[in-house]
Amino acid sequence: MAFWGDLGDRIVGAPSILSADFAHLADEVRRARDGGAELVHFDVMDNHFVPNLTVGPMVAESLVNATDLPIDAHLQMDRPDSLILDFIKAGVASISVQPETVRHLHRTLAMIRAGGVEAGAALTPTTRPETLEYAIPHLDFILVMSVNPGFGGQDFIPEMADKVRRIKELYDLPVQVDGGITEATAPLMVEAGAQVLVAGSAVYKGNPVDEMRKIIAAGRGASG
Ligand code: DX5
Ligand code: ZN
Repeated sequence: MAFWGDLGDRIVGAPSILSADFAHLADEVRRARDGGAELVHFDVMDNHFVPNLTVGPMVAESLVNATDLPIDAHLQMDRPDSLILDFIKAGVASISVQPETVRHLHRTLAMIRAGGVEAGAALTPTTRPETLEYAIPHLDFILVMSVNPGFGGQDFIPEMADKVRRIKELYDLPVQVDGGITEATAPLMVEAGAQVLVAGSAVYKGNPVDEMRKIIAAGRGASG
């Protein structure tokens, strides 16, 4: 099963574990799953490309073994090539890299796909979608960051809905949105063409079962 390849035109919710209680990660994922989540968004931060520092392939492997949901690793780090093989071995379903940190994007995406893992490009708010033109055949999805990478709980940047719209005009790939996604902003992104809604603080600020369910319902309510 390929998560992105089999997505079709569905709208899907994905908890970002960044805002979860890391001491109870499997339970936190289970609760979001009970709320309808179909993917786990796993934020990797290196205290270099972004100020924050999170978790790596070892924790990814533990989580892969603790859930039946596919894990999507979002590498917010410099030199992601150095960890890609470890994430593949850990059993993640997809990996996105930030083209802003990658010297040879074609090679990096090929490395991800050679491991049988789906590949994504995650764009910071000021990166133009056109930069991906020649990478498109090597991508399974595009991630639009609607905050600056590094932290949960930041304010949604509204122009990112236009960016999603622009990407959907240019390319035929599913779009994942990440940053400031809530019950209120999910419909704006879905109307623009986004299909995978990543939410961290909005899911874990309360009961993840209810909060995940509300975000997915709000997104699906906006899909034409
Ligand atoms: C930010 C991360 C996000 C983060 C989103 O750099 O990529 O996945 O968890 O958090 P919220 O949903 O709180 O904006
Ligand atoms: Zn993320």
